[in-house]
Amino acid sequence: MSVSLPEEKAAPAAAEALSAKADDPGFGVYVHWPFCKSKCPYCDFNSHVRESIDQDRWCRALLRDLEHAAAHSEGRRVTSVFFGGGTPSLMPAETVSAVIETVGRLWSLDTAAEVSLEANPTSAEADRFAGYASAGVNRLSLGVQALDDRALAFLGRQHSAAEALAALALARNSFQRISFDLIYARPGQSLAAWQDELAQALAQGPEHIALYQLTIEEGTAFQAAARRGEIVLPADDAAAWLYEATARQLGEAGLPGYEISNYARAGAACRHNLTYWRYGDYAGIGPGAHGRLTWDGVKHATRQHRAPEPWLDLVEKQGHGWRSPQPLDWAERRDEMVMMGLRLTGGIATTAFHRVLNASPQEALAADRLGQLEAEGYLTCDEEGLRATAAGRQRLDALLAYLLT
Ligand SMILES: C[S@@+](CC[C@H](N)C(=O)[O-])C[C@H]1O[C@@H](n2cnc3c(N)ncnc32)[C@H](O)[C@@H]1O
Ligand code: SF4
Repeated sequence: MSVSLPEEKAAPAAAEALSAKADDPGFGVYVHWPFCKSKCPYCDFNSHVRESIDQDRWCRALLRDLEHAAAHSEGRRVTSVFFGGGTPSLMPAETVSAVIETVGRLWSLDTAAEVSLEANPTSAEADRFAGYASAGVNRLSLGVQALDDRALAFLGRQHSAAEALAALALARNSFQRISFDLIYARPGQSLAAWQDELAQALAQGPEHIALYQLTIEEGTAFQAAARRGEIVLPADDAAAWLYEATARQLGEAGLPGYEISNYARAGAACRHNLTYWRYGDYAGIGPGAHGRLTWDGVKHATRQHRAPEPWLDLVEKQGHGWRSPQPLDWAERRDEMVMMGLRLTGGIATTAFHRVLNASPQEALAADRLGQLEAEGYLTCDEEGLRATAAGRQRLDALLAYLLT
């Protein structure tokens, strides 16, 4: 890697991520709902299709799992709850309500807590939005994925573009804060076609939007199709152009990127995800969920059994679905914090280095490698913190592999 780039100025979102509050990453609760109506061909999330689900058993198990996590994080104040999946918009509103109520009872729920739920935009699911809002959800993340019916069919989605727009309009009646996801860099998608689609998305007036380049994941139907040569993704340089054009268009529309795939108006960043990226603690509830919890002064990685039914049985038998928690040593914490934090446009505050590692960025990282990456224009490091430049974020995997060796 050796390109000389001009010193870049921190975007407005960077200031947000390096503000004094950056040293208070908050404490989140992630709840995984592992069921979907059908499996999308690109998706490798822990999501499963089932004929029927014993809703009462699942609700009881989630509440018991919450109790187990709370016993390992007593006294924390919850600043966000996130229902992710799978498809949490298939959850009964009563279960969502019971989880939120139990979180408030076991920990304490910040009065300004962000409570997000991921929803698929079929009309059946949109009918449930008011129920989720009554249960305490105050932010909806809608999986629109594309605003083109042929693309939606290619992605195996169960909704049309018109349905997605109708769900978005309906969501506005129930939620103050809304985000939606789109997948781009699809096979054969031209820059002009993507920019048109993005303009249509921006015309909806979003405060937050997540834009993911299509990736071919291990074990998916798309991987098999790619092996047969039926799916060909854009080449790396074309994908990089698409990324740059996307970031430009979003910035001009007033939603600068604050993370590699996330764009928001000032103050509208997803607080729950910021807790991950700022390396705060969070409880991971439900099958396959990961967590980071500190007890006895040691930060631990927790992970749960992944398969839904064995997880349910385990929780009923032993009160939780955890595999053995792993204490994280100094080098592991450094690596995790840097990997997460450099995804943010604002990077990692120096105060966060001291909070997590008791060291400055210069003390925590190899000085020669840090210096080289700075000289080549991929990183900046000053008294405020450590930050990847736009060029650095585009090659983040290679940059991290070099910096953290
Ligand atoms: C947990 S998933 C989906 C949540 C919800 N069930 C849905 O389908 O909208 C979160 C997001 O990851 C993105 N995603 C999942 N797999 C992807 C892939 N292979 N390539 C790009 N984006 C992907 C999608 O945009 C999706 O909305
Ligand atoms: S993309 Fe969403 S709906 Fe599709 S299989 Fe994955 S989690 Fe389920």
